[in-house]
Amino acid sequence: MLCGVWKYYLCGMMSEQFFLPKYEPKVPSSQTVIWSAPSNIALVKYWGKKPVQLPANASVSFTLSNCKTITEVTFFAKKLKDDKHSFDVLVDDVSNESFRPKIESFFTKAQEYLPFLSSGHFQIRTTNTFPHSSGIASSASGMAALALCLMSIEKSLDPTMSEDFFLAKASFLARLGSGSACRSIKGSMVAWGSHPAVSNSSDLFGVPLRQPWHEFFLNYQDTILIVEEGQKQVSSTAGHDLMHNHPFAQQRFEQAETNLSDLITAMTQGDLDEFIGIVESEALTLHAMMMTSNPAYVLMQPATLSIITAVWNFRKSTQIPICFTLDAGANVHLLYPKSVKSEVLSFIEQELVAYCQNGRYICDELGEGSIQLNVYPNS
Ligand code: DP6
Repeated sequence: MLCGVWKYYLCGMMSEQFFLPKYEPKVPSSQTVIWSAPSNIALVKYWGKKPVQLPANASVSFTLSNCKTITEVTFFAKKLKDDKHSFDVLVDDVSNESFRPKIESFFTKAQEYLPFLSSGHFQIRTTNTFPHSSGIASSASGMAALALCLMSIEKSLDPTMSEDFFLAKASFLARLGSGSACRSIKGSMVAWGSHPAVSNSSDLFGVPLRQPWHEFFLNYQDTILIVEEGQKQVSSTAGHDLMHNHPFAQQRFEQAETNLSDLITAMTQGDLDEFIGIVESEALTLHAMMMTSNPAYVLMQPATLSIITAVWNFRKSTQIPICFTLDAGANVHLLYPKSVKSEVLSFIEQELVAYCQNGRYICDELGEGSIQLNVYPNS
């Protein structure tokens, strides 16, 4: 039987309208909510978008477990409604203005879906489990955690809201903040973007993929080699923009659609060679798009290429099924089954750590998605 969100989807009624509030406008009571949301790493990449924050092609990612953002939102009801968003942001308990423009733009886009946003003051406290300087993007986990907090406040106005709707709308809102954030609500593999191989898939929000994956993929590991700490020189948002009028854009979007179907088949059948081929090609194509855009730019560093070569040599000589992927930066994500973890960790220590800035790498693995918390860390 179809229920909740999917019933509307299959009836062809799923559109942005579906996420408009169905209750009379109300001001929530003052309250505090806390959510933890994980980072994710795309296997088939989202690169290129259409207004408003819709993907040019479908993408799919592994949800991580250890790299996450924890956000506490305290809502103070305003005595007088003034239609302006009002919030403070504390990052690691220190006031941080650098996050303001992104949150302001997110609140503006989310306003029609959450009318209470202009009826109070929000105090946002946030912290990452991974160091800010590690070069790991926190916008996916950060926007997902913030969207979930806002959904908890909305649920206090509409207590009959189903869990399916809550999670779909959290993903929908997170997408408005940062596209890849819509894949950080659930685990352990999430697709975003309408695609014939993924039932119930939508451009509006991410959906968990519940295929019976081959056992190889159940405890997949992701070790993130920190090649470059700190902020990247070109933001993802600017990179997406350069896909407009890009000479290879159309072929790239078509390739991603094919790669997504082929990846699902490979993961269902346990075809590691095919999986590795698609994942590495996606990573290199993403960077090829950057190198062939106008203006062109390069985010890989010499150490990124040295690691890729070392991974290829190691895989060839040991037959251990390790592969790499990249996000929009110089860091390298090494993906491999848990069964070969000790061999891979020795390889990293012996050959790869020398390419990592300050010898840093972070061990992560597939995770189950976001969770609501009762207590903010260290409070
Ligand atoms: C290379 O989601 O960070 O990581 O929607 O502009 O916030 P905005 O971009 P963002 O782009 C992520 C790009 C990527 C690939 C991916 O995660 O699919």
